[in-house]
Amino acid sequence: LIFILQALLSCAVFTSAQAPQLNLLPMPTSVKLGTGQLTIDKSFAVALDGFDDQDLDKTIDRFLLQLSRQTGIPLGARAQTKASSPTLVIHAQHGRKATQELQEDESYQLTVMQAGTELTAPNSLGVLRGLQTFLQLIGPTPNGFAAPEVTITDGPRFPWRGLLIDMCRHFIPLDVLERNVDAMAAVKLNVLHLHLSDDEGFRMESKKFPKLTGEGSGGLYYTQAEMREFIAYAHDRGIRVVPEFDMPGHSRSWFLGYPELASAPGPYQLVSSVEPVMDPTQEKTYKFLDEFIGEMAGLFPDAYFHIGGDEVDGQQWNANPKIQNFIRAHGMKNNQDLQAYFNQRLQKIVSKHHKIMVGWDEVLHPALPKSIVVQSWRGQQSLAVAAKGGYRGLLSYGYYLDLMWPAWRHYAIEPLSGDAANLSAEEKSRILGGEACMWTELVTPENIDNRIWPRLAAIAERLWSPASIQDPQSMYRRLDELNWHLELLGLTQRTGEIEMLHQMLGSDDISSLLALADVVEPVKDYVRLDTVKINDSSLPLNHLVDAVSPESDVARNFRTLVETYISGGYKDQNAALQIRERLARWRDNDAVLHPALEESFLLREAEPLSQNLSSVAAVGLASLDSLEKSEIPPEAWRTQQLSILSSARSPTAMLLLMIVDPVQELVMATTGSK
Ligand code: ACM
Repeated sequence: LIFILQALLSCAVFTSAQAPQLNLLPMPTSVKLGTGQLTIDKSFAVALDGFDDQDLDKTIDRFLLQLSRQTGIPLGARAQTKASSPTLVIHAQHGRKATQELQEDESYQLTVMQAGTELTAPNSLGVLRGLQTFLQLIGPTPNGFAAPEVTITDGPRFPWRGLLIDMCRHFIPLDVLERNVDAMAAVKLNVLHLHLSDDEGFRMESKKFPKLTGEGSGGLYYTQAEMREFIAYAHDRGIRVVPEFDMPGHSRSWFLGYPELASAPGPYQLVSSVEPVMDPTQEKTYKFLDEFIGEMAGLFPDAYFHIGGDEVDGQQWNANPKIQNFIRAHGMKNNQDLQAYFNQRLQKIVSKHHKIMVGWDEVLHPALPKSIVVQSWRGQQSLAVAAKGGYRGLLSYGYYLDLMWPAWRHYAIEPLSGDAANLSAEEKSRILGGEACMWTELVTPENIDNRIWPRLAAIAERLWSPASIQDPQSMYRRLDELNWHLELLGLTQRTGEIEMLHQMLGSDDISSLLALADVVEPVKDYVRLDTVKINDSSLPLNHLVDAVSPESDVARNFRTLVETYISGGYKDQNAALQIRERLARWRDNDAVLHPALEESFLLREAEPLSQNLSSVAAVGLASLDSLEKSEIPPEAWRTQQLSILSSARSPTAMLLLMIVDPVQELVMATTGSK
């Protein structure tokens, strides 16, 4: 009994609602926190007790390197099978598949004790996941670097947890992809979906059809040797690489070199408003695709092959009498039927080359075999329809990072909610997970990290952790911490913004510009993209909107402060002081910033924004004065303040001022009623 009591006292078992204050992201399935801690010092050593291979040795080398970077402690020692007093003992039963498989076991158990740590997993893929958890546990304490005593049992909720990167609208070099793979591994994502061809560019070298990149890439593409190396890099980190070649639409870049594939003669250009489509009525299209897909199937080892299939623009089909005759002769009703015919032909080719076809919502058609996977960009409903029809599916709707939504909004998107909530258990099991999408019309190598991170980590948690893990406050606390963990890996989502601000200001002192940048966010959804007539990657993306984070942490924290102050009946002196201090800084910022904005052609457009920050802050200060003195100002005053806020709310230079809403809460609080 004493033992049981001791065990109960020394262990706290946490349910999702009271997840412990650990900086773990994604939160593991089960966390039992002890009381002691494991110290990490230069005597740290790893021993393998069980399965060992070259892959696992490399994994441990990378782990030690990262731990060194994280702590500054030189840990050169390689893993020793029989280290005399190892700090970390790893036990895997067997190795990994040479090509990582969907559903390959990623589970692990991690036990951190004062005397040392044990990591146990069925295979070395689980070891990879567990090591990332261990790294997140280690931080500075009064007595040196340490990890808390903890027992973690963990495994993913969904087997497919991905990120799509579009390298067509803007080319993304491999070093940028590599560091994003490192970050994906840190949050236990396991699929990188490469959107390799679209209207604006063809990014993958084909040796059989060299004009694809020769004419269709503007010189920006990956060679096959580079891609092989990159796939191995991702595999080492437990990440599958799934290629997408978008067909039959989104395919203008193919037609610069091979116009005979298109439904109209051409010639074609990369920068254009024409949206040509492949001609699905001619045999030479399928002969070409058979050879091309055969070549790509040899290059990309993953079992899944994405053929796109989204947003087919039927204009060229409608305008071509030969294609219209084909539709009639085959008893088809419309262009959708023609696309389904194309997809059936394509599916047979993909299958012949031993791959499983993946496509966007539009490919769903009863004529296609149940083996295909449908990726839903249009809504959760189509995912449910697919699952009911016997198809497997992936959710991307709600996970579009280019929409500039705050992390909490992505976090709230649950793959098994909405129509999917009513599916049977078997149907639900067909929903494999999801993929966040980073479309790059307005994204460059300079700001892509900032557009992806840290928000992607919230989606990673949704896809890995139990559905009951839902507290946005806990998520944000851990997200803030993760940001710096990722910067250490070479990601630039924070430091990149600072560099860009220096560039556009042309000055060493960016403090007043940063004060403004910290409280604005890019306009949401496609408000900015809708102003772009033609995607042209040669147009510079070097404005303030390109540098700032999609989500303002400063504004979010300010809102929390205001809400604390109001809900506490204006008694919280500390909150009042902090609100006043921030508002005063914002009010006075424009006086310093304004002359500097005048000096940069890039920043002049932000002048009204800076003025708005100042006037909104003044409104907040006046409201705070009233609240602190328990005065109720006249209604006319309030109306005037609200009109200032209302004009400050409209976007300026494609940016939104994010402190307007919390300041409005202060104004409304001055009515005296709650
Ligand atoms: C898509 O967003 N058209 C996949």
